[in-house]
Amino acid sequence: MVTASQALASNIDVSNEQMDTIEVENLVIEFALDNAFFKRQYMRAVNGVSMTIKAGEALAIVGESGSGKSTCARALTRLYKPTAGMLRLNGQDINCPENLISQEALAKQIQMIFQDPFGSLNPVHTIRHHLYRPIRIHLPHLSGQELEDYMLATLERVGLSPASQTAGKFPHELSGGQRQRVAIARALATGAKFILADEPISMLDVSIRLGILNLMGDMKDEGIGFLYITHDIATARYFAERTGVMYVGHMVEWGNSDAVTQTPQHPYTQLLISAVPEVGRKRDNNSSKDHSKNQIPLWTSESKGCPFAGRCPKVSQVCQDRMPDVTQVAEDHFVRCFALAR
Ligand SMILES: Nc1ncnc2c1ncn2[C@@H]1O[C@H](COP(=O)(O)OP(=O)(O)O)[C@@H](O)[C@H]1O
Ligand SMILES: [Mg+2]
Repeated sequence: MVTASQALASNIDVSNEQMDTIEVENLVIEFALDNAFFKRQYMRAVNGVSMTIKAGEALAIVGESGSGKSTCARALTRLYKPTAGMLRLNGQDINCPENLISQEALAKQIQMIFQDPFGSLNPVHTIRHHLYRPIRIHLPHLSGQELEDYMLATLERVGLSPASQTAGKFPHELSGGQRQRVAIARALATGAKFILADEPISMLDVSIRLGILNLMGDMKDEGIGFLYITHDIATARYFAERTGVMYVGHMVEWGNSDAVTQTPQHPYTQLLISAVPEVGRKRDNNSSKDHSKNQIPLWTSESKGCPFAGRCPKVSQVCQDRMPDVTQVAEDHFVRCFALAR
């Protein structure tokens, strides 16, 4: 048995290793509940999550809606303050009050791209305007022709050529895939080392999703680290070296993407994989029957047990009583489940 911190520590040996990494350690994020009149009550959206994102690699977080994926990403951009736990960028605590990294410095290193490429662009501004803004903030030494050339090169880099034509267009003149490329270009324009991609392809036509994933793959090869948030475990395996599976704020299984997706150990991961439709496979009425979400618990600091217990086909009494410890099932494959021992 290893603890989550030990599992994480195996990735963080010496301080040199902390360069070009984002580390999340035992992150807890609580939100106040509206219905609490007398005593303030909180729900735990993220419960003791640890992960490491390295430059030049992608970590996918997979899980159904409400599992706390976006909340983790938002905490990394300091949109949410952790209730507990530590977030480090290149070894430095990003919330350290004594030595606070400025929001600008943080944004220069960590950028986010979102599910809805149209919503993240302003319809009244041209693509040129959208790119000029972050470049002016983060690379203030560029102006005039140098600024224009850098902007055009960034558009070319994301496949929006001829860049000079694209730059003069408005968001509504581009397709969904092209708009997402603009969002990626905007993130790249800052010189960011890490991109937190929150369901970046789920609103795009299936036929263009692969193009965006491959573009992000090229960025990864150029040294950018990705947190790739998705509810589609198949694309996690395609794009990310490592995958973590989240359920109700808990990381229930994580490790090498091939191991997690090909030999899933947690019943929730197994459910996610059985729910992926395959071309050529007929609909199977017996597989992935459990799609009722009425057993999803509202997690609070008083909750106990495994959050998946209410839906789990392998549940036993102990699952209701406490959260399973971490079991290492392979060199880079970890899971929290009591059923493993049975
Ligand atoms: N700003 C917020 N205030 C209150 N509750 C929130 C807030 N943001 C997220 N939540 C709640 O936290 C849980 C996790 O949300 P989220 O991280 O968006 O999940 P995911 O991205 O996995 O779909 C959900 O139950 C959601 O309702
Ligand atoms: Mg989300």
